[in-house]
Amino acid sequence: MSEVNITLTVNGEKRHVSVAPGLSVLNMLRDKLDLTGAKLVCGEGECGACTVIVDGTSVNSCLMYAVELDGREVTTVEGLQTSEKLDPVQQAFVDKGAIQCGYCTPGMVMQTTHLLKQTGKPTEEQIRRGLEGNVCRCTGYTKIFEAVNQAAEG
Ligand code: FES
Ligand code: FES
Repeated sequence: MSEVNITLTVNGEKRHVSVAPGLSVLNMLRDKLDLTGAKLVCGEGECGACTVIVDGTSVNSCLMYAVELDGREVTTVEGLQTSEKLDPVQQAFVDKGAIQCGYCTPGMVMQTTHLLKQTGKPTEEQIRRGLEGNVCRCTGYTKIFEAVNQAAEG
């Protein structure tokens, strides 16, 4: 099937990409743009490892077609860090030991970034609800929730 040309903004940079109609956003980011932060785990919207932000909303990039991104803006975990220092959410995950294998971490960080943009200082309940679509198999959620709280403190 022939490819479609799309133009989008990725991490603040205008990109032109040729994509097959059935290509997912996740596979476009990883295979066409070499942005491998977002991870493929379940591939069916159940784990959140592929979370990125599209026009200010967090999405499971494994479930979205790349052709839907024409004219839109995407932020991936690679786009958070703007200086030599880690972004505050990334730093909080390091400080609190909220990472073991790291496979879920980019998705957790992106979902946390989205949550904090929406709520500022979330309650415990809002953190649990906000991250309920993101699965971690090894760290344990206590450290992750501590990291979210640290990031919320600013
Ligand atoms: S890989 Fe997309 S939700 Fe699991
Ligand atoms: S750190 Fe291993 S899955 Fe979360």
